[in-house]
Amino acid sequence: MTVGTLPLAAERPAHDEPARLLGGLHPDGATVELSEHLARWGALDLGPARTRLVAELEASGLSGRGGAAFPVGAKWRSVGTRGRPVVVANGAEGEPASAKDATLLARTPHLVLDGASAAATALGASRVLAYVPAHLAPGLERAVEGRERIGLDPVPVEIVVAPDAFIAGQESAVVNAVAGRGAVPAFQGLTPIRHRGVGGRPTLVQNVETLAHVALVARFGARWFRGVGTEDAPGTALLTVTGRFESPVVLEAPLGTPLDRLLGLGPDAADRYQGALLGGYGGTWVSLDTLGGLRFSEPAAQARAATLGPGVVVLLARRACPLAEVARVVRYLHAQSAGQCGPCVHGLFDLERAVDALAFGPRALGGRLEPVLDACALAEGRGACRHPDGVARFVTSACRVFSAEVAAHLGSGPCRSASAPGVLPVPGTRGSAAGRERPRWAR
Ligand SMILES: Cc1cc2nc3c(=O)[nH]c(=O)nc-3n(C[C@H](O)[C@H](O)[C@H](O)COP(=O)(O)O)c2cc1C
Ligand code: SF4
Repeated sequence: MTVGTLPLAAERPAHDEPARLLGGLHPDGATVELSEHLARWGALDLGPARTRLVAELEASGLSGRGGAAFPVGAKWRSVGTRGRPVVVANGAEGEPASAKDATLLARTPHLVLDGASAAATALGASRVLAYVPAHLAPGLERAVEGRERIGLDPVPVEIVVAPDAFIAGQESAVVNAVAGRGAVPAFQGLTPIRHRGVGGRPTLVQNVETLAHVALVARFGARWFRGVGTEDAPGTALLTVTGRFESPVVLEAPLGTPLDRLLGLGPDAADRYQGALLGGYGGTWVSLDTLGGLRFSEPAAQARAATLGPGVVVLLARRACPLAEVARVVRYLHAQSAGQCGPCVHGLFDLERAVDALAFGPRALGGRLEPVLDACALAEGRGACRHPDGVARFVTSACRVFSAEVAAHLGSGPCRSASAPGVLPVPGTRGSAAGRERPRWAR
């Protein structure tokens, strides 16, 4: 099942698995209206959410879909009790290679809003906030108004606009943005957002895809949820695929599906692609061999020292220079840092310079990769948020997977494709094949 901008040519994703969140969407990209949503799924009875939903979520094994794959039931159990909680539906989707949250918000917003209301009921929350990019706010506003007219949500949903920035969706940045401060991560100390977040109150920040799954667990229960997927990764998840089809595509598949089947990769895959990026720009590059042997699940990715992050795969075509791609993305990621901690201010600056040299002027490195790897080591593990760690992982995995290109650049200078326009989506960059590429319906 594919949605989003369906590839027009013969190259369609090969798999045809049952979809949950994306099943029954309008092929033309129109929003599933409230009446259609209720006809498809039935009204959400929030009664059981007061008593049973947290246990049901624990039994379901649902994990967060915003990048860290944290177990949802355990997270809800650990929300603080000093003051009535705040629930935030996080739809910021700062990752440029992801479009799945925008897909849900634009095309099936009521699943997300049902999940948010279920969370508010289960936790006894007194505020529900939907944190979404500006271009999605008007559509969501209409959806919220429709629900208000029939009294569907126990707590009114407030919409807060998320800035279009890579780190705007990090949970302490979300709390800052809601408070009217800059959407930059905060130094949390030992007190998590779950105890002290929006307005100093216990706060649940949950990705919008996670909440859409919650809406279905609340209706059909844990057993139903576990009907597909694997023991350690139950259910389905969304995946944004870039570089494989004519334009980025959002897929839904049961977790555990072999990735090569999901992506429709044939025996010629290694001739066409030189590597794949899993998990987006805070993720990990893997070889085509590794990709071919992977199943679609976070535990499977972690077993190969990778992560699927918010559900992102980018295939890099043979014609591109991987080191130039990496350099352009690192420039963007450095510019996106809040510039408030040492690893971002100094570490990412040094890293950007070293990776730039590797891609475009390797003579400056005197034939050594160490300046790049040293800058990665300096950036890692010391910021207030995981942003510098993600950038370091992105670069070190690239150096490993593209070791032949690294040796060629260091030995004989940049290849010809290094000066060609980039192919990875880098917001605000002219010449990038994609810009901030979103499927057409999501614009
Ligand atoms: C740099 C950075 C950026 C992030 N951006 C997002 C984002 O855009 N959307 C999101 O849902 N989570 C994002 N996260 C993860 C959030 O901090 C948080 O873990 C998540 O929203 C929780 O929801 P989940 O448990 O449902 O995944 C980001 C984390 C980091 C470190
Ligand atoms: S590590 Fe970087 S992005 Fe994260 S809070 Fe510090 S300066 Fe900001």
